[in-house]
Amino acid sequence: MTNQNKYILALDQGTTSSRAIVFDRQGHILATAQREFEQFFPRAGWVEHDAGEIWSTQSGVAQEAITRAGLRAENIAAIGITNQRETTVVWDRQTGQPISRAIVWQDRRTAELCDRLKAEGKEQTFRAKTGLLLDAYFSGTKVKWILDHVPGARQAAEAGNLAFGTVDSWLIYNLTAGALHITDASNASRTLLYNIHTGDWDDELLSLLDVPRSMLPEVRPSSEVYGETAAGLFGSQIPIAGIAGDQQAATFGQACLSRGMAKNTYGTGCFMLMNTEKEAMPSQNQLLTTVAWQLGGERTYALEGSVFIGGAVVQWLRDGLGIIRRSEEIEALASSVPDTDGVYLVPAFTGLGAPYWDPYARGTMVGLTRGSTAAHIARAALEAVAFQSAELLDAMQKDSGLDLKELRVDGGASRNDLMMQFQADLLGVPVVRPKVTETTALGAAYLAGLAVDFWPGTEAIEQAWEIDQTFEPQMKATERAARLSDWKRAVERSRGWAEA
Ligand code: G3P
Repeated sequence: MTNQNKYILALDQGTTSSRAIVFDRQGHILATAQREFEQFFPRAGWVEHDAGEIWSTQSGVAQEAITRAGLRAENIAAIGITNQRETTVVWDRQTGQPISRAIVWQDRRTAELCDRLKAEGKEQTFRAKTGLLLDAYFSGTKVKWILDHVPGARQAAEAGNLAFGTVDSWLIYNLTAGALHITDASNASRTLLYNIHTGDWDDELLSLLDVPRSMLPEVRPSSEVYGETAAGLFGSQIPIAGIAGDQQAATFGQACLSRGMAKNTYGTGCFMLMNTEKEAMPSQNQLLTTVAWQLGGERTYALEGSVFIGGAVVQWLRDGLGIIRRSEEIEALASSVPDTDGVYLVPAFTGLGAPYWDPYARGTMVGLTRGSTAAHIARAALEAVAFQSAELLDAMQKDSGLDLKELRVDGGASRNDLMMQFQADLLGVPVVRPKVTETTALGAAYLAGLAVDFWPGTEAIEQAWEIDQTFEPQMKATERAARLSDWKRAVERSRGWAEA
């Protein structure tokens, strides 16, 4: 057996925390370390991170996870990286320092720029080449914003002195002490600058967004040995061998490896991806076409539905409303009433993603009466997560013409049985939760492990995937239709609210 006494380290750089997980050959977790970092909200609709803190927390937890597992760097066969996508970092190539805070995927500051490009009739060009829509969510307009607003940035970029990267690039640049400026096809496919059909940055799009090509990382496959960690960082040097955006990594970790298989991750947001294999299937229903991963020269594509607020609505009940003290309490509170008594909560706190793409929508609650209680609101919040996901699945089935047999679920909030049952009821298909719900980190570990022969092939992933629980749909079709129709009425009331 190759690589005996070796393990894989996955770095999972998420929106609210940096995590590191050590996996063994069976895909079991040996040790985990996690640190939260600061979220900056400098203006309404803006969300920023300190890229320096992203790096310091991520390198800190990497070392901590190795130590907790009772290992040393030489026991790590490879590192796989997965990350919050679209979040944009621009740094100075000379100093290695970011020139501004990172603009986070949730940030809406470029909504007007997107409107302008749409008014100029450019959306179809972006759509055809990138599979994305013109929305502030993606990196391209965020890079332009930094170049247009940080003093001296544009001249420095044009002189070749600045580098752009999504969080994977930024981490690898730091892990290798500046030796590598790379990304993978799955992360590149979220930038609005990358042509998903040719597999290269696209000059027409770069010119539409005024982004110099010299800033961009080299795009590599999602699984190969890219290089090693810098000497001195972890003791001995570790190969870096896998990269994927977190939602794509989760799709891989859920073993959704063939056409028509889909997963939904309940994290800060909810992201549903359906594997469409070699076909970059265009969406007629406001979904995204995205690169799932690239193995060797071959790209696998997916249809994606992105919902911006998923588990974050529970945080809001805890931190904003204060009706629960800990996130886990929501299930008991929501279960204390048999239904929401007509209350609908639309958590459009940062606008609406798929299928509405309305950056001006804001949160709303309807159906309140004198009898409404915190429990009804808690239940409505959980239902909202499931309603949003049900709309994604509906669009996905229409686009692909494929009838989904089951939906695989993961992410923190997938542990909530009440919500998963409601999800199955709304979808009308079984919802299947695997034993390991850390599928994002697991997917990154698999990508890295495949590149260093830690795992022989993708069959190992399918074999390791095991069911924890299946939730069968129980709701009558008529009730499902009535609930979805009320939900859609509630959504309409949230739309366009923040428009100037
Ligand atoms: O597209 C944004 C997504 O990658 C963020 O994922 O898990 O950090 O909420 P997460």
